[in-house]
Amino acid sequence: MTLRRSFAAALLAAGALFIAACGSSGGGGTTSSSSSGKIAPTFAAASAAKPKGTVTYCTGKDTSGAQKESLKLFNQQYKSQGLSARLLEFPESADEQRNQFIQREQAKSPECDIFFSDVIWTAEFASQKWLMDMSNYIKARTSEFIPSTLETAHYQGKYWGVPQASDSAFLFYRTDKLPSPPTTWQQAYADAKKYGGITYQGTAYEGLTCDYLELAYAAGGQVLSPDGKKSLINSPQNLAALQFMVNGVKNGSASKAVTTYMEETARRAWEAGKAVEMRNWTYAYALGQMSKIKGKFKVAPLPSWQGGGKAGILGGHNLVVSAYSKNPNGAVVLTHFLTSPKVEALDAAKYSLAPVLNTTYDDPAVKKALPYTPQLRLAIQQAKARPVSPVYPQISEAIYNNVNKALSGQQSPQDALKNANSQINKALQTF
Ligand code: GLC
Repeated sequence: MTLRRSFAAALLAAGALFIAACGSSGGGGTTSSSSSGKIAPTFAAASAAKPKGTVTYCTGKDTSGAQKESLKLFNQQYKSQGLSARLLEFPESADEQRNQFIQREQAKSPECDIFFSDVIWTAEFASQKWLMDMSNYIKARTSEFIPSTLETAHYQGKYWGVPQASDSAFLFYRTDKLPSPPTTWQQAYADAKKYGGITYQGTAYEGLTCDYLELAYAAGGQVLSPDGKKSLINSPQNLAALQFMVNGVKNGSASKAVTTYMEETARRAWEAGKAVEMRNWTYAYALGQMSKIKGKFKVAPLPSWQGGGKAGILGGHNLVVSAYSKNPNGAVVLTHFLTSPKVEALDAAKYSLAPVLNTTYDDPAVKKALPYTPQLRLAIQQAKARPVSPVYPQISEAIYNNVNKALSGQQSPQDALKNANSQINKALQTF
């Protein structure tokens, strides 16, 4: 190292120390900074600072009311301290939620202290330096979390969020209409054709990437090469899965309307009795229990591919603290509350959300409310992650746009995968 360089390095280090000394708010001097950004405090430090004020929790549409209920409990508990939480709801579509958060971060807005961040966004948001480093917070709690959920918050050696809700899809089926739960996708589609249709999420958005990859992975397909540098989307296995879904729409196993559906539209069609099978995330179980098909359906793990394997996609959300938050202590205290065994059990038992903590799966109230608790735990432990990449959103866009066009008959499955392939390779070259 030259003298000039070591002087520059010393200046940088001094600068970092200076920022560390100043970098706090919410009443306690507990955030610090490193060259890769701000470091969030531990829970012990954040709560010792007795933060006050309002913490804004930005999230996708709170369809079930679960978020509102847990914020109400938080506000009751922290009222006397002068700390409260406010919910800011974004639209239902995952892609729209991402846009809303990005707009704020690009403007360095402190509006969202916490964001309910989809597991697929960690790499992108962390590499943009929009998130506080939560590694110190996580260190004290590592063994509490199911490892697959923690992994979704991990990027380049650090934890950028705290898992709050995991997710896995199931095959919902009508017990009064099907003779038995289908065990292969082929049987599921054949039964659907015979007894009244399968519904799923087929419009051009993130949900379709999940629905398609569940079949493609089960058929033996992949998205990227192991080093993450090349697209492998245009493979015979992926083509078989796509052709199968396209045939399903053509021959009436699935109604054409699926090409316009997201989670909620699919759920409403299902609850209205317009389908005998539905692919959807675990949240739809509790709502189904309050619908007119209550008692007439069950959920089963996703079927396997005939002659192939079985695959689920790991979904879910992490609580991330924005690097621009003006109340990181309050944000950490709220994060801790929302990921506590109490809230995790409430979310599971009342709203059928998938817990991220190991112990919640053994909670008697959860086991009673969700008869499929053991299958849910297994699904979360074994589900496959979507590709981890700072350009994941562009990769996914290439998948869902082309798959949707194939489903709606605008291009052949062969062309869809060819186009997705070149679009994914193009996206990979941009970073
Ligand atoms: C669910 C999943 C999430 C996924 C999204 C797609 O919210 O938890 O991971 O990206 O659905 O619509």
